Amino acid sequence: MPEFQPRVFSGVQPTGNLHLGNYLGAITKFVALQETHDCIYCVVDLHAITVPQNPAELKASIREVTAAFLAAGIDAKKHIVFNQSQVSEHAELAWVLNCVARLGWLTRMTQFKEKAGKDRENVSVGLYAYPILMAADILVYRATHVPVGEDQKQHLELARDIAQKFNLDFGEEIVALGHGDAFFPLPEPLIQGPATRVMSLRDGTKKMSKSDPSDYSRINLSDDADTIAQKIRKAKTDPEPLPREVEGLAKRPEAENLVGIFAALEGRSKAEVLEAYGGGNFSTFKSALIDLTVAKLTPIGEAMAKLAQDQAHIDAVLEDGAARARVLAAETMKAVKDIVGFVR
Ligand code: TYM
Repeated sequence: MPEFQPRVFSGVQPTGNLHLGNYLGAITKFVALQETHDCIYCVVDLHAITVPQNPAELKASIREVTAAFLAAGIDAKKHIVFNQSQVSEHAELAWVLNCVARLGWLTRMTQFKEKAGKDRENVSVGLYAYPILMAADILVYRATHVPVGEDQKQHLELARDIAQKFNLDFGEEIVALGHGDAFFPLPEPLIQGPATRVMSLRDGTKKMSKSDPSDYSRINLSDDADTIAQKIRKAKTDPEPLPREVEGLAKRPEAENLVGIFAALEGRSKAEVLEAYGGGNFSTFKSALIDLTVAKLTPIGEAMAKLAQDQAHIDAVLEDGAARARVLAAETMKAVKDIVGFVR
């Protein structure tokens, strides 16, 4: 493998409310990685239309996710923030990778199985091919590191398989064209910390998700302090006091989830949180969790609301980011065309 320039890429879908899971699993990591890496953060609107969207709401959601990135502290001048559909190379590379990936690989994707449910014959082809577009998103920048929540792990493994198969299938051309023995890096997932899988506040065995019909299952980045307090107070718990050791969280999914959220918000480990709160009851712990969540999230929600009033600014950020992303993506596509054997 040649030495690839370290580069971070990740994406968030513009579909409905951003929640605490997106924030702790992904966005806080995006913010931290800016210190050490060149980063590209993408609002993945092409992914959103794999299920039906209302076009007016889609536009609003694209701007809302962009606002959330900026409000959380992503620097769109030093790094790149844009929406996927403005850089056509994502779709173009996805086609080439469609011809590299194998049908059987996609059939194993658990997220597709979950999303398609029993009505498989009736979902879009896009929903099935979704992980290939995701691989293209990453590989079109030859990104080396991808911060995501635990739920994206399998998709990242697929992206690595696709990159590797491309490198093997076109090995001779890659060497002949002077790229060394591999054109694409095998992108590394970054899935770390105490909240890589934030669970529903109503059921600790289910992932916190945008599509849960109960708004009490999640904390949205746009929730105000009262709403956050109410949701945490109503969050499901169990009758035992909090354990003093992390091992005591086993088989107590709700307790584990709340402790994980606390730890991630405060930048501590679960063990440290339990040192402070273990042995105590949930009501004391929940009060502290409410204060912490309100302190961390409401400034972001307020900044998002402010940014939402300046649509021209958001659109300008996306346009500028897309222009810079396009330069990098076009360079990759040119090389891919030469490798595959297209005349250009
Ligand atoms: P999406 O839009 O569903 O979620 C955005 C990010 O939030 C993380 N996440 C969570 N993390 C912890 N706990 C949760 N309950 C939780 N829910 C969501 C997700 O893991 C993700 O990191 N396919 C991707 C978007 C995408 C992408 C990419 C990501 C498209 N192309 C390329 C990385 C690289 C998705 O649907 O994420």
